[in-house]
Amino acid sequence: MEVTMLLLSLLLFLNSVNHFRFAATARTLFTNETDLLALLAFKDRITSDPSGVLSTWNATTHFCGWEGVTCGRKNQQRVIALDLSSRGLVGSLTPSIGNLTFLRKINLQNNSFFDAIPSHIGHLHRLQRLNLSFNSFVGGIPVELSNCSDLRRLDLKRIPLAGRIPDELRSLSKLEALRLEATNITGEIPPWLGNFSSLSLLTLWSNFFEGTIPEELGNLANLEYFEVSENMLSGIISLHLCNFSNLHFFNVANNQLQGSLPPTLGNALPRLNYLWLDGNRFEGPIPASIGNATRIGNIDFSNNRFSGQVPSNLGRLQGLYYLNLGGNQLEASDANGWEFLDSLTNCSFLRILALDDNRLGGILPKSIANLSIELHSLLIGSNHISGNIPSGIENLFNLYELAFEENLLTGNIPADIGKLQMLQALYLGGNRLTGTLPSSLGNLTRLNTLDLDGNAFEGPIPSSLGNLQHLADLDLSHNSLSGSIPKEIFNLSFLSNFVDFSDNNLIGELPLEVGSMTNLGALLLSGNKLSGEIPGTLSNCEVLENLFIDNNFLNGTIPASLSDIKALQNLDLSHNNLSGPIPELLANLHFLAYLNLSFNHLDGAVPTKGIFNNATAISLLGNDGLCGGIPELHLPACPRKSSNKRGRSHLVRVVIPIISAISCLTLIFLFVFLCWKQKPRKITRSPASSLDDTYPKVSYRELAEATERFSSTNLLGTGRYGSVYKGSLRCGNAVVAVKVFNMQQLGAIKSFVAECDALRIIRHRNLVKIITLCSGVDFRGYDFKALVFEFMPNGSLEEWLHPRISEQGMTNSLNVLQRLNIAIDVAEAMDYLHHNCQPPVVHCDLKPSNVLLDADMVAHVGDFGLAKILCEAKSMSLQNSANSTEVIRGTLGMSLQNTGQGDWSLHQVMCIAMESFFWRFLQERDQLMMHLTMD
Ligand SMILES: *[C@@H]1O[C@H](CO)[C@@H](O)[C@H](O)[C@H]1NC(C)=O
Ligand SMILES: *[C@@H]1O[C@H](CO)[C@@H](O)[C@H](O)[C@H]1NC(C)=O
Ligand SMILES: *[C@@H]1O[C@H](CO)[C@@H](O)[C@H](O)[C@H]1NC(C)=O
Ligand SMILES: *[C@@H]1O[C@H](CO)[C@@H](O)[C@H](O)[C@H]1NC(C)=O
Ligand SMILES: *[C@@H]1O[C@H](CO)[C@@H](O)[C@H](O)[C@H]1NC(C)=O
Ligand SMILES: *[C@@H]1O[C@H](CO)[C@@H](O)[C@H](O)[C@H]1NC(C)=O
Repeated sequence: MEVTMLLLSLLLFLNSVNHFRFAATARTLFTNETDLLALLAFKDRITSDPSGVLSTWNATTHFCGWEGVTCGRKNQQRVIALDLSSRGLVGSLTPSIGNLTFLRKINLQNNSFFDAIPSHIGHLHRLQRLNLSFNSFVGGIPVELSNCSDLRRLDLKRIPLAGRIPDELRSLSKLEALRLEATNITGEIPPWLGNFSSLSLLTLWSNFFEGTIPEELGNLANLEYFEVSENMLSGIISLHLCNFSNLHFFNVANNQLQGSLPPTLGNALPRLNYLWLDGNRFEGPIPASIGNATRIGNIDFSNNRFSGQVPSNLGRLQGLYYLNLGGNQLEASDANGWEFLDSLTNCSFLRILALDDNRLGGILPKSIANLSIELHSLLIGSNHISGNIPSGIENLFNLYELAFEENLLTGNIPADIGKLQMLQALYLGGNRLTGTLPSSLGNLTRLNTLDLDGNAFEGPIPSSLGNLQHLADLDLSHNSLSGSIPKEIFNLSFLSNFVDFSDNNLIGELPLEVGSMTNLGALLLSGNKLSGEIPGTLSNCEVLENLFIDNNFLNGTIPASLSDIKALQNLDLSHNNLSGPIPELLANLHFLAYLNLSFNHLDGAVPTKGIFNNATAISLLGNDGLCGGIPELHLPACPRKSSNKRGRSHLVRVVIPIISAISCLTLIFLFVFLCWKQKPRKITRSPASSLDDTYPKVSYRELAEATERFSSTNLLGTGRYGSVYKGSLRCGNAVVAVKVFNMQQLGAIKSFVAECDALRIIRHRNLVKIITLCSGVDFRGYDFKALVFEFMPNGSLEEWLHPRISEQGMTNSLNVLQRLNIAIDVAEAMDYLHHNCQPPVVHCDLKPSNVLLDADMVAHVGDFGLAKILCEAKSMSLQNSANSTEVIRGTLGMSLQNTGQGDWSLHQVMCIAMESFFWRFLQERDQLMMHLTMD
């Protein structure tokens, strides 16, 4: 008995030892010690940590105190959350993350993690939130994630994962939010998502999902936010998908969905605010039940095939803000068909109403003038609407955009249109409007686009259009306008996209002022009765890409200075009375792709280089005097110039040395004169060129030599429009910084011009000093433009604020006094630019990388590539940023121009606001200094 007891207790003892041992191994597997190892393994995989967050992960502090790490209170200091979002971390994610078994939340969004998401993440059974969005993980969603069955929020948006949604994930039935936007995921939307009864947010936007939207999703009673736009989904919206009592946001835009909408669509969506169906193939009528979804604020049904009349009860949607029905086949022919517009007058928040590109006909109802005065956009173009522009339209005085183009409108433009003071775009082209253009158009001073082409307007172009200082596009083509072109229009140096006056009856000469439009991209004057010579000042329009003056009565010769318009791509001077030779210099226009000089009276030899070497790109027909050129042109050979060759060569022998002697003397004189002169030169408004003569020029060869052929070892930095090299000029042994513009880059010419323009008028101890410039050709004959600046040995402020790891292990950091001094220097520079410089200049690109530090750590502001010169005429106060945007003139970056007016003015406001901040800072610096010395 005792023996058995003994044996039993022995057994028990052994058993408990075993048990104990097992427990011990389990603890070494998953204890706070393994958490430490796992965190260190995490840190180990990070190759770049610009914010230095992981440097706090060291032995001096317990890991529960490390930044981004949260430990549980109860669980023996186990890690329960890891939050390192937006730290700029680069590296892969360690599989050891799976050892942090107490983790409930991982947030690594907005870093640069790459490689696959480790499958070990599936060990995290307690995980509730996983956010890996905005990273570079690849290789699909790991199947093992299905083990994290407690997961509530899964956010993988903007990761190029690709692959399908693994079916195993059906186990994640507690999910409340699933975000897979822009993840390159393919396949079908899994129907089992319909079982996730807690799901309130499902966004699968911008992927490659195909197939139908599963009806099962209709079971998601808690769904609030549903977005599957920008996929390849097909099929219909079934009634099952119209019963979401909590749904707030519904977006299926830009798929291939089809069929008609269920007639009762709006009856069971009591909370719906956004209903976006645009860019599909829906057809049939717009269901009247939408008027029952009374919380709707945003409706976009555009670009479908909806037909029939617009339901007349939309006015019940009291909160309607945005209604876009454009690009459908909607109809209206009489008052009945337009009843919906009457009802929309009840929607007092309506901002945007787009009905363009439909089959709306008949006459616009008078009620249009009673629409919400909040209305910003009224777009009714491309319909069949007849009658006059409705009177009372001027009541909508908050309109930004009014588009009636491509209709059958008749009558005049009402003079009252000048009351729409907020208007930025007016489209009336392609109608049957008549009469003269009201001069009140000149009151629309915010106008950016004025499109009146293809009507029957007559009479003169009102000179008041010269008031439209914000105009970028001006299209008056295809009318019967007469008289001469008012000079005032050419003073719109702001005009930056195009001026189109083609096919009118305009007479007179092209005024010299045409050269003021230094921002213009296209000047189209074809098919008028313009006479006189082509003004040489056109060459000031340096960024002009398209110049069409064909089918006029121009005479005289083709000015060789046209070859200064370096950006020129298309040039048509055909069907005029031009005479004389074709300027050989036109062959230097590298971007020229189309040249039509046909049907003039040109004579002499046709050049053979540049565009003249491409017979299909040029037309020279109907010019009887031309000869030579490349054989493909089949022109007669030019007569030999033997007769007076001797005389000429004699002349050459005598005259050339005299001319060169004179020019040498002039140059020397100029140089001495310029060096002598201390005061800044008086400003004349002609870009680049005057800077060209202000500074001694340097050649491409010299710069190549100075920078060791622009070697990468001398590269100091690269920007949007070019690169900066360190170099040493032979004369004077000066160390310089050479900024070479990349002429292939669109906008580089503009940037060069802007910078020259700005540098021409500024001079201050806190601005980078220009030494010289180079504007010539490189060894391949391509345009080469460079600016040479003082070299700044201490680099840019950017490098000091965000230092890279230096080889010596030295930490470069600025002390408070240095920082303050730099800020004051920058403020001084801004003060000078804004207030003491005539005309004022806005830098517009002020950032640490453009603040350079000399040997004494004095800051100099550089890079004027986006600078704007403000209108001299108006005295301005930059403290008031709202007003100052009104008077801005000068050069716009090409990229800004293309982003549309909205962005553009925002940019202006931003840059003035920022620079003014520095100015205010200057005002307060004395106080600051006092504080500092007291401390
Ligand atoms: C994580 O756990 C695995 C096995 O459980 C082990 O092999 C690995 O070494 C652990 N990693 C760290 C960093 O402790
Ligand atoms: C270690 O981390 C602490 C903060 O947790 C930090 O103050 C200290 O500078 C770090 N030590 C090193 C050597 O980075
Ligand atoms: C792990 O937990 C034990 C028990 O609570 C504690 O004594 C030990 O200091 C902890 N170790 C770490 C690294 O936190
Ligand atoms: C994701 O899709 C985009 C668009 O088709 C494509 O440009 C990109 O290369 C894809 N990325 C991956 C990792 O497949
Ligand atoms: C709008 O709702 C009311 C009340 O529920 C219903 O009687 C009516 O038929 C609905 N309208 C449409 C067009 O479905
Ligand atoms: C245009 O502005 C001028 C001057 O401010 C004013 O006299 C005129 O009445 C305005 N015209 C319209 C139509 O608003």
